[in-house]
Amino acid sequence: MCGSVNIFCQSLGGSLATKGLTFYATSPEYVHPMTSPESPTATSAAAELRREYRYGTLNEQDVAADPLQQFTQWFAEAERAAVLDYSAMALATAHQHGPTVRIVLLKGVDARGFRWFTDKGSEKGQALRANPQAELLFHWRELDRQVRVRGSVIELADEESDAYFYSRPLGSQLAAATSAQSQGVANRDALETRYQTLSDTHTQRAPRPEDWGGFLLQPDQYEFWQGRESRLHDRLQYKAASGGWTIQRLQP
Ligand SMILES: Cc1cc2nc3c(=O)[nH]c(=O)nc-3n(C[C@H](O)[C@H](O)[C@H](O)COP(=O)(O)O)c2cc1C
Repeated sequence: MCGSVNIFCQSLGGSLATKGLTFYATSPEYVHPMTSPESPTATSAAAELRREYRYGTLNEQDVAADPLQQFTQWFAEAERAAVLDYSAMALATAHQHGPTVRIVLLKGVDARGFRWFTDKGSEKGQALRANPQAELLFHWRELDRQVRVRGSVIELADEESDAYFYSRPLGSQLAAATSAQSQGVANRDALETRYQTLSDTHTQRAPRPEDWGGFLLQPDQYEFWQGRESRLHDRLQYKAASGGWTIQRLQP
């Protein structure tokens, strides 16, 4: 079971292998069991992963009536639990070519909604301009939790985009000015040359590209998910209703 490329095998493999967990190193000789010619559809290490979710529970009587308050509480708990990149969220959009999804970082949340910043000419930016509806997904693995937030999306005002853009390090400003996000480029050198040219000219701050800025998702639906033992998870869905929110438990 312990091949030469299984670098963790000697130190960890004994105990973990007995629990059905195997760690693999990435090397040229390494063949993932899913793609191994001998076992094209054989059970992979990933398929064998079966972790129980025991961190906590989610009950109607314990949650806030306002989902923003509930989100803020879980977000703070993710921060306290030192979840790496706890502000990272998958942003799903949909345009006429179909759905697309990618990770962005949450840069603020309040009664107005959830904010992130990007190149609005990117694939996601174009999708949002064509169909300003989106869903955000946070996954806090260490807490066995996920949160989905759905709603309509608007663009932030230039002043807000400027304020955030110029709060970033000069290198990030230059990179944003260098990159027409999601467009093809001949090679890495072309990008670095453009970056260098801009950094020679702009030594204090780089001009914010006209199309670089913020979006705001205004939620009309949330779902809080708490993993439970034997996959009998807790799911509470909030939907905007006149003057407040309804809460519905969903089957796992
Ligand atoms: C942890 C992480 C954080 C990211 N944060 C952002 C972000 O805040 N804004 C952004 O435009 N792209 C961010 N990206 C890159 C996006 O995932 C994506 O590659 C990029 O925005 C282009 O997406 P698009 O072609 O779908 O528009 C991040 C990626 C990762 C993995």
